[in-house]
Amino acid sequence: MGRFFSELKRHKVIRVAIACLVIGGVLVATWTPHMAVAQETPTVLITGSSRGMGLELTKQYAAKGWKVIATCRTPVTADALNALAEEYSSIAIEELDVTDHAEIEALAKKYSDVPIDVLINNAGIFGPAAKQTLEDLDYDTFTNVMAVNVYGPLNMSQSFADNVAASEQKKIVTITSGLGSMALTDKNGGYYFYRISKAGANIVGRTLAADLRDRGILIGLFNPGIVDTEFGRDTGYNGPRLKPGIAVGALIGFIEELDAKNAATMINYDGTPMPW
Ligand SMILES: NC(=O)c1ccc[n+]([C@@H]2O[C@H](COP(=O)([O-])OP(=O)(O)OC[C@H]3O[C@@H](n4cnc5c(N)ncnc54)[C@H](OP(=O)(O)O)[C@@H]3O)[C@@H](O)[C@H]2O)c1
Repeated sequence: MGRFFSELKRHKVIRVAIACLVIGGVLVATWTPHMAVAQETPTVLITGSSRGMGLELTKQYAAKGWKVIATCRTPVTADALNALAEEYSSIAIEELDVTDHAEIEALAKKYSDVPIDVLINNAGIFGPAAKQTLEDLDYDTFTNVMAVNVYGPLNMSQSFADNVAASEQKKIVTITSGLGSMALTDKNGGYYFYRISKAGANIVGRTLAADLRDRGILIGLFNPGIVDTEFGRDTGYNGPRLKPGIAVGALIGFIEELDAKNAATMINYDGTPMPW
């Protein structure tokens, strides 16, 4: 019998087969469900995906192989987003107005058992520039700007916190703006409502960080710079604008590097901390 086995071991094919069986056995013995989770495709949920940076975020995350829950107010007219979803089967388009609390709740219910690695509060409005000057402060505009830029991210973060906590990466990111910085508001006035809303979004982020830290959730606050989208076109600004692809590439890099050290502080598109 002993001679039979030593003859077998000398045969090359059988030696390889034995090696495969041993390696396979070790792999099966050390495989755990946790490893299976770590290998899963990550998921990102983006608000305001119909155009501008939200559309670019959807495109870049899908190209990286992520599952993308791309939300927008009116999917039926979001032609560019629909075209992207035809190209990438990993994009799911969902109707969502971030000022509609019932719609947010319904979407959170639909995705209740789906871990979301990154929630990006991108949807935002500037509001008409002429309606937020000291000469003309239109308070209906104020209400709208606050509803989209402040209550929206807060409600989204509250409603999807469980999904984020159940994920591998556990990140909530809100797009903020240098116009929300006290320190940088020195010489130029105007844009009252937009400035107030982004300062509000910053303190929402900071407070969420305190509330969600124990659940391992990191909060990111990112200033994209002045980006070449339809945003704030009536402000009269005629200076240089960043290409959306560049700004969003920087944002995705920032999200990848988000950790306890740079969380809950305003980070500029060049990666440096910004004064509040
Ligand atoms: N572009 C810049 O220079 C700049 C600078 C600093 C910060 N930001 C911030 O970056 C974010 C994205 O801006 P952007 O440049 O991509 O602007 P954008 O091109 O004007 O796109 C804004 C997006 O927000 C969506 N949106 C507006 N109201 C919404 C609501 N109630 N519910 C859901 N979605 C809504 C729009 O959807 P519809 O198509 O349905 O209108 C659109 O998809 C904003 O938060 C903005 O404050 C932009």
